[in-house]
Amino acid sequence: AVFAGSSCYEVTNLTFPASFLFGTATAAYQIEGAWNESGKSVSRWDHITHTSSIVVDGSNGDVACDSYHKYKEDIEMLKQLGVDFYRFSIAWTRIIPSGFANDINQAGVDYYNNLIDGLLEAGIEPWVTMYHWDIPQVLNYIGDFSNPYTIDYVVDYADVLFSLFGDRVKTWITFNEPLSFCAHFPLSSAAFGVHLPAGISEYLCSHNIVIAHAKIYRLYQLKYKWEQNGRISIALNTEYAEPATDSPADIEASNRKLLYDLGWYAYPLVHGDYPRVMIDTIRNLSAIQGFPFSRLPMFTLNEKVIIRGAYDFFALNHYTSSLTADASSVIGSPSFLNDDLVEQFKDPAWGNSSASWLTVYPEGLRKLLVHIKETYNDPEIAITENGFADEPGVLNDVGRVSYYQSYLSEVLKAMLEDGVKVTAYTAWSLMDNFEWYNGYTVRFGLYYVDFDSPDRTRTAKESAGYYRNVIQTRCLTE
Ligand code: BG6
Repeated sequence: AVFAGSSCYEVTNLTFPASFLFGTATAAYQIEGAWNESGKSVSRWDHITHTSSIVVDGSNGDVACDSYHKYKEDIEMLKQLGVDFYRFSIAWTRIIPSGFANDINQAGVDYYNNLIDGLLEAGIEPWVTMYHWDIPQVLNYIGDFSNPYTIDYVVDYADVLFSLFGDRVKTWITFNEPLSFCAHFPLSSAAFGVHLPAGISEYLCSHNIVIAHAKIYRLYQLKYKWEQNGRISIALNTEYAEPATDSPADIEASNRKLLYDLGWYAYPLVHGDYPRVMIDTIRNLSAIQGFPFSRLPMFTLNEKVIIRGAYDFFALNHYTSSLTADASSVIGSPSFLNDDLVEQFKDPAWGNSSASWLTVYPEGLRKLLVHIKETYNDPEIAITENGFADEPGVLNDVGRVSYYQSYLSEVLKAMLEDGVKVTAYTAWSLMDNFEWYNGYTVRFGLYYVDFDSPDRTRTAKESAGYYRNVIQTRCLTE
Protein backbone atom coordinates (compact mmCIF):
# COMPACT_ATOMS: atom_id res chain seq x y z
CA ALA A 1 0.00 0.00 0.00
CA VAL A 2 1.22 3.47 -0.83
CA PHE A 3 -0.59 4.99 2.13
CA ALA A 4 0.83 4.45 5.55
CA GLY A 5 0.38 6.10 8.91
CA SER A 6 2.65 8.73 10.36
CA SER A 7 5.55 6.26 10.37
CA CYS A 8 5.78 6.52 6.60
CA TYR A 9 8.16 9.43 7.06
CA GLU A 10 10.87 6.87 7.60
CA VAL A 11 9.91 4.67 4.67
CA THR A 12 11.83 6.41 1.96
CA ASN A 13 10.23 4.73 -1.02
CA LEU A 14 6.86 6.18 -0.04
CA THR A 15 8.02 9.71 0.55
CA PHE A 16 8.66 12.68 -1.64
CA PRO A 17 12.36 13.56 -1.73
CA ALA A 18 13.47 16.44 0.49
CA SER A 19 14.14 18.55 -2.60
CA PHE A 20 10.57 18.14 -3.90
CA LEU A 21 8.62 21.41 -3.81
CA PHE A 22 4.97 21.80 -2.82
CA GLY A 23 2.95 24.87 -3.66
CA THR A 24 -0.46 26.22 -4.41
CA ALA A 25 -1.77 28.63 -7.05
CA THR A 26 -4.18 31.41 -7.93
CA ALA A 27 -4.64 33.88 -10.79
CA ALA A 28 -5.09 37.65 -10.65
CA TYR A 29 -8.55 37.98 -12.18
CA GLN A 30 -9.86 35.08 -10.12
CA ILE A 31 -8.88 36.53 -6.73
CA GLU A 32 -7.79 40.18 -6.74
CA GLY A 33 -10.99 42.17 -7.27
CA ALA A 34 -10.33 45.94 -7.23
CA TRP A 35 -11.08 45.80 -10.93
CA ASN A 36 -11.03 49.56 -11.45
CA GLU A 37 -8.79 50.71 -8.61
CA SER A 38 -5.43 52.45 -8.51
CA GLY A 39 -4.94 52.93 -12.22
CA LYS A 40 -5.85 49.43 -13.39
CA SER A 41 -7.43 49.30 -16.85
CA VAL A 42 -10.23 47.11 -18.18
CA SER A 43 -9.19 43.58 -19.11
CA ARG A 44 -10.82 41.11 -21.45
CA TRP A 45 -12.53 39.42 -18.50
CA ASP A 46 -13.76 42.71 -17.01
CA HIS A 47 -15.24 43.43 -20.40
CA ILE A 48 -16.77 40.00 -20.93
CA THR A 49 -18.35 39.77 -17.50
CA HIS A 50 -19.73 43.32 -17.73
CA THR A 51 -21.16 43.01 -21.22
CA SER A 52 -22.22 39.40 -21.77
CA SER A 53 -24.09 36.69 -19.92
CA ILE A 54 -21.73 33.79 -20.46
CA VAL A 55 -20.88 33.26 -16.78
CA VAL A 56 -23.43 30.77 -15.43
CA ASP A 57 -24.37 32.73 -12.30
CA GLY A 58 -24.00 36.14 -13.92
CA SER A 59 -21.14 36.96 -11.56
CA ASN A 60 -17.77 38.63 -12.17
CA GLY A 61 -14.38 39.22 -10.57
CA ASP A 62 -15.04 42.85 -9.59
CA VAL A 63 -14.39 41.97 -5.93
CA ALA A 64 -13.69 38.21 -6.04
CA CYS A 65 -11.59 37.30 -2.96
CA ASP A 66 -10.53 40.95 -2.62
CA SER A 67 -6.91 39.85 -2.49
CA TYR A 68 -5.81 43.26 -3.75
CA HIS A 69 -6.65 44.44 -0.24
CA LYS A 70 -6.24 41.17 1.64
CA TYR A 71 -2.98 39.77 0.31
CA LYS A 72 -1.49 39.75 3.80
CA GLU A 73 -4.16 37.27 4.87
CA ASP A 74 -3.33 35.19 1.81
CA ILE A 75 0.29 35.07 2.92
CA GLU A 76 -0.81 33.98 6.40
CA MET A 77 -2.77 31.09 4.85
CA LEU A 78 0.26 30.10 2.77
CA LYS A 79 2.34 30.10 5.94
CA GLN A 80 -0.19 27.87 7.68
CA LEU A 81 -0.02 25.42 4.80
CA GLY A 82 3.77 25.45 4.90
CA VAL A 83 4.12 25.59 1.11
CA ASP A 84 7.51 26.01 -0.52
CA PHE A 85 6.16 28.30 -3.24
CA TYR A 86 3.09 30.29 -4.26
CA ARG A 87 2.17 30.53 -7.93
CA PHE A 88 0.17 33.70 -8.62
CA SER A 89 -0.31 35.82 -11.71
CA ILE A 90 0.35 39.47 -12.39
CA ALA A 91 -2.42 41.52 -13.98
CA TRP A 92 -1.00 43.16 -17.12
CA THR A 93 -3.73 45.81 -16.69
CA ARG A 94 -2.31 46.86 -13.31
CA ILE A 95 1.29 47.18 -14.51
CA ILE A 96 0.77 48.62 -18.01
CA PRO A 97 -2.85 49.81 -18.19
CA SER A 98 -2.74 50.83 -21.86
CA GLY A 99 -1.20 47.53 -22.91
CA PHE A 100 1.87 49.36 -24.27
CA ALA A 101 5.11 49.44 -22.32
CA ASN A 102 5.51 53.21 -22.02
CA ASP A 103 3.14 53.84 -19.14
CA ILE A 104 3.98 51.88 -16.02
CA ASN A 105 1.44 52.20 -13.22
CA GLN A 106 3.30 52.60 -9.92
CA ALA A 107 0.35 51.52 -7.74
CA GLY A 108 0.31 48.15 -9.52
CA VAL A 109 4.05 47.79 -9.14
CA ASP A 110 3.75 48.56 -5.42
CA TYR A 111 1.08 45.92 -4.97
CA TYR A 112 3.19 43.13 -6.46
CA ASN A 113 6.34 44.35 -4.70
CA ASN A 114 4.49 44.08 -1.39
CA LEU A 115 3.20 40.63 -2.24
CA ILE A 116 6.57 39.35 -3.41
CA ASP A 117 8.43 40.83 -0.43
CA GLY A 118 5.81 39.46 1.98
CA LEU A 119 6.20 35.98 0.50
CA LEU A 120 9.98 36.08 0.68
CA GLU A 121 9.86 37.24 4.29
CA ALA A 122 7.64 34.23 5.00
CA GLY A 123 10.15 31.92 3.31
CA ILE A 124 7.84 31.24 0.35
CA GLU A 125 9.18 31.39 -3.20
CA PRO A 126 7.12 33.52 -5.60
CA TRP A 127 6.34 31.71 -8.87
CA VAL A 128 4.91 34.26 -11.24
CA THR A 129 2.58 33.71 -14.19
CA MET A 130 2.82 36.67 -16.56
CA TYR A 131 -0.42 36.02 -18.37
CA HIS A 132 -3.42 34.21 -16.92
CA TRP A 133 -6.06 35.33 -19.44
CA ASP A 134 -6.66 38.98 -18.49
CA ILE A 135 -5.29 40.79 -21.55
CA PRO A 136 -5.87 44.57 -21.63
CA GLN A 137 -9.17 45.03 -23.44
CA VAL A 138 -7.61 47.34 -26.02
CA LEU A 139 -5.42 44.46 -27.22
CA ASN A 140 -8.27 42.00 -27.00
CA TYR A 141 -10.18 44.32 -29.26
CA ILE A 142 -7.56 44.28 -31.99
CA GLY A 143 -7.71 40.49 -32.13
CA ASP A 144 -5.90 39.36 -28.98
CA PHE A 145 -3.11 36.88 -29.72
CA SER A 146 -4.53 36.00 -33.12
CA ASN A 147 -3.05 39.33 -34.16
CA PRO A 148 0.76 39.03 -34.43
CA TYR A 149 1.20 42.66 -33.30
CA THR A 150 0.29 41.49 -29.83
CA ILE A 151 3.53 39.48 -29.70
CA ASP A 152 5.61 42.66 -29.42
CA TYR A 153 3.38 44.09 -26.71
CA VAL A 154 3.53 41.00 -24.54
CA VAL A 155 7.32 40.75 -24.98
CA ASP A 156 7.62 44.37 -23.83
CA TYR A 157 5.39 43.59 -20.86
CA ALA A 158 7.63 40.63 -19.96
CA ASP A 159 10.68 42.88 -20.22
CA VAL A 160 9.07 45.27 -17.73
CA LEU A 161 8.28 42.39 -15.35
CA PHE A 162 11.85 41.07 -15.47
CA SER A 163 13.28 44.51 -14.80
CA LEU A 164 10.88 45.26 -11.92
CA PHE A 165 10.65 41.91 -10.17
CA GLY A 166 13.35 39.63 -11.57
CA ASP A 167 15.76 40.39 -8.75
CA ARG A 168 13.40 38.41 -6.48
CA VAL A 169 11.30 36.22 -8.79
CA LYS A 170 13.28 33.21 -10.01
CA THR A 171 10.54 31.06 -11.52
CA TRP A 172 8.49 32.52 -14.38
CA ILE A 173 5.56 31.06 -16.30
CA THR A 174 4.98 33.12 -19.43
CA PHE A 175 1.48 31.96 -20.39
CA ASN A 176 -1.11 29.87 -18.60
CA GLU A 177 -2.76 27.22 -20.76
CA PRO A 178 -2.79 28.47 -24.34
CA LEU A 179 -4.96 25.46 -25.19
CA SER A 180 -7.64 27.00 -22.96
CA PHE A 181 -7.37 30.65 -23.96
CA CYS A 182 -6.59 30.18 -27.67
CA ALA A 183 -8.81 27.21 -28.38
CA HIS A 184 -11.39 26.22 -25.82
CA PHE A 185 -12.52 29.63 -24.63
CA PRO A 186 -13.83 31.24 -27.81
CA LEU A 187 -13.63 34.75 -26.47
CA SER A 188 -11.00 36.53 -28.46
CA SER A 189 -11.07 37.81 -32.00
CA ALA A 190 -13.97 35.58 -32.96
CA ALA A 191 -16.20 37.34 -30.46
CA PHE A 192 -14.89 40.87 -30.19
CA GLY A 193 -13.06 42.04 -33.23
CA VAL A 194 -11.80 40.68 -36.49
CA HIS A 195 -13.76 37.69 -37.71
CA LEU A 196 -11.50 35.05 -39.18
CA PRO A 197 -12.72 32.05 -41.16
CA ALA A 198 -13.63 29.10 -38.93
CA GLY A 199 -10.80 26.83 -37.97
CA ILE A 200 -8.09 29.50 -38.24
CA SER A 201 -7.99 31.77 -35.20
CA GLU A 202 -7.12 29.01 -32.69
CA TYR A 203 -4.10 28.07 -34.80
CA LEU A 204 -2.99 31.66 -35.29
CA CYS A 205 -3.32 32.44 -31.59
CA SER A 206 -1.40 29.31 -30.59
CA HIS A 207 1.28 29.97 -33.21
CA ASN A 208 1.78 33.51 -31.95
CA ILE A 209 1.90 32.31 -28.35
CA VAL A 210 4.68 29.83 -29.10
CA ILE A 211 6.64 32.60 -30.81
CA ALA A 212 5.91 35.13 -28.06
CA HIS A 213 6.95 32.65 -25.39
CA ALA A 214 10.21 31.90 -27.23
CA LYS A 215 10.94 35.61 -27.69
CA ILE A 216 10.41 36.22 -23.97
CA TYR A 217 12.68 33.28 -23.18
CA ARG A 218 15.42 34.58 -25.50
CA LEU A 219 15.07 38.12 -24.17
CA TYR A 220 15.68 36.79 -20.68
CA GLN A 221 18.71 34.80 -21.81
CA LEU A 222 20.29 37.83 -23.44
CA LYS A 223 19.40 40.58 -21.05
CA TYR A 224 18.71 39.17 -17.58
CA LYS A 225 19.85 35.59 -17.08
CA TRP A 226 23.45 36.37 -16.17
CA GLU A 227 22.32 38.64 -13.37
CA GLN A 228 18.98 37.22 -12.26
CA ASN A 229 19.56 33.52 -12.92
CA GLY A 230 15.90 32.50 -12.97
CA ARG A 231 14.09 29.83 -14.98
CA ILE A 232 11.23 30.07 -17.42
CA SER A 233 8.50 27.83 -18.75
CA ILE A 234 4.95 27.94 -20.14
CA ALA A 235 2.12 26.14 -18.33
CA LEU A 236 0.61 23.62 -20.74
CA ASN A 237 -2.56 21.75 -19.94
CA THR A 238 -3.98 18.53 -21.15
CA GLU A 239 -6.35 15.82 -20.10
CA TYR A 240 -4.95 12.33 -20.37
CA ALA A 241 -6.44 10.63 -23.47
CA GLU A 242 -7.13 7.09 -22.36
CA PRO A 243 -7.76 4.72 -25.32
CA ALA A 244 -11.46 3.81 -25.36
CA THR A 245 -10.63 0.20 -26.33
CA ASP A 246 -7.39 -1.68 -26.88
CA SER A 247 -7.82 -1.61 -30.66
CA PRO A 248 -4.74 -0.27 -32.48
CA ALA A 249 -6.90 2.51 -33.96
CA ASP A 250 -8.01 3.77 -30.54
CA ILE A 251 -4.50 3.51 -29.11
CA GLU A 252 -3.24 5.57 -32.03
CA ALA A 253 -6.14 8.02 -31.59
CA SER A 254 -5.24 8.49 -27.94
CA ASN A 255 -1.63 9.21 -28.80
CA ARG A 256 -2.75 11.54 -31.60
CA LYS A 257 -4.99 13.45 -29.19
CA LEU A 258 -2.08 14.01 -26.79
CA LEU A 259 0.06 15.22 -29.68
CA TYR A 260 -2.68 17.66 -30.71
CA ASP A 261 -3.45 19.07 -27.26
CA LEU A 262 -0.03 19.09 -25.63
CA GLY A 263 2.20 18.67 -28.69
CA TRP A 264 0.63 21.76 -30.29
CA TYR A 265 2.88 23.76 -27.93
CA ALA A 266 5.36 21.30 -26.44
CA TYR A 267 6.52 19.80 -29.73
CA PRO A 268 7.72 23.12 -31.21
CA LEU A 269 9.48 24.01 -27.96
CA VAL A 270 11.19 20.64 -27.59
CA HIS A 271 11.59 19.50 -31.21
CA GLY A 272 11.35 22.73 -33.23
CA ASP A 273 8.04 22.22 -35.08
CA TYR A 274 4.48 20.97 -34.78
CA PRO A 275 3.97 17.20 -34.53
CA ARG A 276 4.13 15.59 -37.99
CA VAL A 277 0.62 14.16 -37.56
CA MET A 278 -0.82 17.67 -37.05
CA ILE A 279 1.06 19.11 -40.02
CA ASP A 280 -0.06 16.34 -42.40
CA THR A 281 -3.61 15.88 -41.17
CA ILE A 282 -4.53 19.58 -41.05
CA ARG A 283 -2.96 20.18 -44.46
CA ASN A 284 -5.02 17.33 -45.96
CA LEU A 285 -8.24 18.37 -44.25
CA SER A 286 -7.73 22.00 -45.31
CA ALA A 287 -7.34 20.88 -48.96
CA ILE A 288 -10.51 18.79 -48.79
CA GLN A 289 -12.33 21.76 -47.21
CA GLY A 290 -11.28 24.03 -50.07
CA PHE A 291 -8.63 26.15 -48.35
CA PRO A 292 -5.75 27.18 -50.63
CA PHE A 293 -3.34 26.69 -47.69
CA SER A 294 -3.09 24.68 -44.50
CA ARG A 295 -5.05 26.21 -41.64
CA LEU A 296 -2.06 25.30 -39.43
CA PRO A 297 0.58 28.02 -39.97
CA MET A 298 4.22 27.13 -40.61
CA PHE A 299 7.15 28.36 -38.56
CA THR A 300 9.89 30.14 -40.51
CA LEU A 301 13.42 28.84 -40.22
CA ASN A 302 14.36 31.75 -37.96
CA GLU A 303 11.38 31.06 -35.72
CA LYS A 304 12.34 27.40 -35.44
CA VAL A 305 15.78 28.42 -34.25
CA ILE A 306 14.46 30.53 -31.38
CA ILE A 307 11.61 28.20 -30.46
CA ARG A 308 13.50 24.97 -30.05
CA GLY A 309 14.79 24.62 -26.49
CA ALA A 310 13.06 27.77 -25.20
CA TYR A 311 12.21 26.37 -21.75
CA ASP A 312 14.04 25.43 -18.57
CA PHE A 313 11.53 22.86 -17.31
CA PHE A 314 8.20 21.39 -18.37
CA ALA A 315 5.22 23.02 -16.61
CA LEU A 316 2.07 20.86 -16.63
CA ASN A 317 -1.50 21.66 -15.60
CA HIS A 318 -3.61 18.54 -15.35
CA TYR A 319 -7.00 17.77 -13.82
CA THR A 320 -8.78 14.95 -15.60
CA SER A 321 -8.93 12.35 -18.39
CA SER A 322 -11.25 11.28 -21.20
CA LEU A 323 -11.73 8.05 -23.09
CA THR A 324 -10.60 8.53 -26.65
CA ALA A 325 -11.75 6.71 -29.79
CA ASP A 326 -10.67 6.92 -33.38
CA ALA A 327 -12.95 8.98 -35.63
CA SER A 328 -10.71 9.27 -38.64
CA SER A 329 -13.50 8.43 -41.06
CA VAL A 330 -15.48 11.52 -39.98
CA ILE A 331 -14.50 14.72 -41.77
CA GLY A 332 -16.39 17.59 -40.20
CA SER A 333 -16.55 21.30 -40.89
CA PRO A 334 -13.36 23.38 -40.53
CA SER A 335 -12.73 23.63 -36.78
CA PHE A 336 -9.80 22.76 -34.59
CA LEU A 337 -12.32 20.58 -32.70
CA ASN A 338 -12.67 18.27 -35.72
CA ASP A 339 -9.07 18.25 -36.84
CA ASP A 340 -7.79 15.63 -34.39
CA LEU A 341 -10.15 12.97 -35.78
CA VAL A 342 -11.00 11.56 -32.38
CA GLU A 343 -14.09 11.30 -30.26
CA GLN A 344 -13.93 11.71 -26.52
CA PHE A 345 -16.27 10.77 -23.70
CA LYS A 346 -16.14 10.01 -20.01
CA ASP A 347 -15.94 6.59 -18.40
CA PRO A 348 -18.99 6.22 -16.14
CA ALA A 349 -16.78 4.26 -13.73
CA TRP A 350 -14.69 7.35 -12.93
CA GLY A 351 -15.60 9.55 -9.98
CA ASN A 352 -17.36 12.86 -10.55
CA SER A 353 -16.80 16.38 -9.30
CA SER A 354 -19.01 19.46 -9.36
CA ALA A 355 -17.55 20.49 -12.73
CA SER A 356 -18.85 18.24 -15.52
CA TRP A 357 -15.48 18.18 -17.32
CA LEU A 358 -13.60 17.08 -14.21
CA THR A 359 -13.86 13.34 -13.62
CA VAL A 360 -11.47 11.60 -11.26
CA TYR A 361 -9.00 9.20 -12.87
CA PRO A 362 -5.71 9.46 -10.98
CA GLU A 363 -3.94 6.81 -13.09
CA GLY A 364 -4.28 9.23 -16.00
CA LEU A 365 -1.77 11.58 -14.39
CA ARG A 366 0.84 8.84 -14.07
CA LYS A 367 0.32 7.76 -17.68
CA LEU A 368 0.54 11.37 -18.83
CA LEU A 369 3.80 11.91 -16.94
CA VAL A 370 5.26 8.82 -18.61
CA HIS A 371 4.05 10.08 -22.01
CA ILE A 372 5.81 13.41 -21.40
CA LYS A 373 9.01 11.69 -20.32
CA GLU A 374 9.01 9.57 -23.47
CA THR A 375 7.90 12.22 -25.96
CA TYR A 376 9.76 15.28 -24.72
CA ASN A 377 13.29 14.13 -23.88
CA ASP A 378 12.75 13.20 -20.24
CA PRO A 379 12.37 16.77 -18.96
CA GLU A 380 12.23 18.07 -15.41
CA ILE A 381 8.48 18.43 -14.80
CA ALA A 382 6.74 20.83 -12.43
CA ILE A 383 3.03 20.15 -12.02
CA THR A 384 1.79 23.73 -11.98
CA GLU A 385 -1.93 22.94 -11.40
CA ASN A 386 -3.98 19.98 -10.22
CA GLY A 387 -7.20 20.13 -8.22
CA PHE A 388 -10.78 19.13 -7.57
CA ALA A 389 -14.13 20.95 -7.88
CA ASP A 390 -16.94 20.68 -5.35
CA GLU A 391 -19.94 22.74 -4.31
CA PRO A 392 -19.89 26.00 -2.38
CA GLY A 393 -19.80 25.72 1.38
CA VAL A 394 -18.23 22.29 1.85
CA LEU A 395 -15.70 22.57 4.68
CA ASN A 396 -15.34 18.85 5.29
CA ASP A 397 -14.19 18.35 1.70
CA VAL A 398 -13.49 14.63 1.69
CA GLY A 399 -13.75 14.53 -2.11
CA ARG A 400 -10.84 16.96 -2.41
CA VAL A 401 -8.75 15.14 0.21
CA SER A 402 -9.22 11.86 -1.61
CA TYR A 403 -8.47 13.52 -4.98
CA TYR A 404 -5.18 14.95 -3.70
CA GLN A 405 -4.25 11.70 -2.00
CA SER A 406 -4.87 9.58 -5.08
CA TYR A 407 -3.31 11.99 -7.60
CA LEU A 408 -0.23 12.56 -5.43
CA SER A 409 0.14 8.83 -5.06
CA GLU A 410 0.26 8.49 -8.86
CA VAL A 411 2.87 11.26 -8.98
CA LEU A 412 4.98 9.28 -6.54
CA LYS A 413 4.61 6.10 -8.59
CA ALA A 414 5.62 7.96 -11.74
CA MET A 415 8.71 9.27 -9.95
CA LEU A 416 9.75 6.15 -8.10
CA GLU A 417 8.67 3.37 -10.44
CA ASP A 418 8.79 5.02 -13.86
CA GLY A 419 11.70 7.38 -13.27
CA VAL A 420 9.84 10.53 -14.30
CA LYS A 421 11.64 13.65 -13.05
CA VAL A 422 8.81 15.45 -11.27
CA THR A 423 10.24 18.14 -9.02
CA ALA A 424 7.23 20.18 -7.89
CA TYR A 425 3.48 19.94 -7.33
CA THR A 426 0.92 22.75 -7.20
CA ALA A 427 -2.55 22.41 -5.71
CA TRP A 428 -5.20 24.49 -7.48
CA SER A 429 -6.29 26.48 -5.62
CA LEU A 430 -5.24 28.28 -2.45
CA MET A 431 -8.83 29.44 -1.95
CA ASP A 432 -12.27 29.43 -3.56
CA ASN A 433 -12.35 32.01 -6.32
CA PHE A 434 -14.04 33.19 -9.51
CA GLU A 435 -13.99 30.14 -11.79
CA TRP A 436 -14.42 31.75 -15.24
CA TYR A 437 -17.57 30.37 -16.90
CA ASN A 438 -18.63 28.71 -13.65
CA GLY A 439 -18.48 31.92 -11.63
CA TYR A 440 -18.80 31.04 -7.94
CA THR A 441 -20.88 27.89 -8.51
CA VAL A 442 -17.97 25.48 -8.19
CA ARG A 443 -15.12 25.66 -5.71
CA PHE A 444 -11.50 24.55 -5.92
CA GLY A 445 -10.07 26.06 -2.72
CA LEU A 446 -8.08 24.59 0.12
CA TYR A 447 -9.64 27.54 1.95
CA TYR A 448 -13.32 28.39 1.86
CA VAL A 449 -14.14 32.01 1.01
CA ASP A 450 -17.44 33.52 2.13
CA PHE A 451 -18.40 35.63 -0.87
CA ASP A 452 -21.44 36.99 0.99
CA SER A 453 -19.34 38.58 3.70
CA PRO A 454 -18.00 42.05 2.91
CA ASP A 455 -14.54 41.09 4.10
CA ARG A 456 -14.50 37.79 2.19
CA THR A 457 -13.69 35.69 5.25
CA ARG A 458 -11.38 32.76 4.60
CA THR A 459 -11.69 29.45 6.49
CA ALA A 460 -9.43 26.40 6.22
CA LYS A 461 -11.12 23.31 4.81
CA GLU A 462 -10.25 19.72 5.75
CA SER A 463 -8.08 19.55 2.62
CA ALA A 464 -5.90 22.42 3.87
CA GLY A 465 -5.01 20.33 6.93
CA TYR A 466 -4.41 17.30 4.75
CA TYR A 467 -2.12 19.17 2.37
CA ARG A 468 -0.24 20.78 5.24
CA ASN A 469 0.39 17.33 6.66
CA VAL A 470 1.65 15.98 3.32
CA ILE A 471 4.03 18.93 3.05
CA GLN A 472 5.29 18.49 6.61
CA THR A 473 5.77 14.74 6.53
CA ARG A 474 6.49 14.58 2.77
CA CYS A 475 4.40 11.44 2.61
CA LEU A 476 0.81 10.50 1.89
CA THR A 477 -0.82 9.83 5.22
CA GLU A 478 -4.33 8.41 5.45
C1 BG6 B 1 -7.43 25.72 -15.07
C2 BG6 B 1 -7.14 27.21 -15.04
O1 BG6 B 1 -7.54 25.29 -16.39
O2 BG6 B 1 -8.63 25.32 -14.52
C3 BG6 B 1 -7.62 27.86 -13.77
O3 BG6 B 1 -5.78 27.47 -15.23
C4 BG6 B 1 -9.03 27.42 -13.46
O4 BG6 B 1 -7.54 29.26 -13.91
C5 BG6 B 1 -9.09 25.91 -13.32
O5 BG6 B 1 -9.51 28.02 -12.31
C6 BG6 B 1 -10.48 25.40 -13.06
O6 BG6 B 1 -11.28 25.49 -14.22
P1 BG6 B 1 -12.71 26.19 -14.33
O7 BG6 B 1 -12.99 26.24 -15.79
O8 BG6 B 1 -13.67 25.33 -13.60
O9 BG6 B 1 -12.60 27.54 -13.74
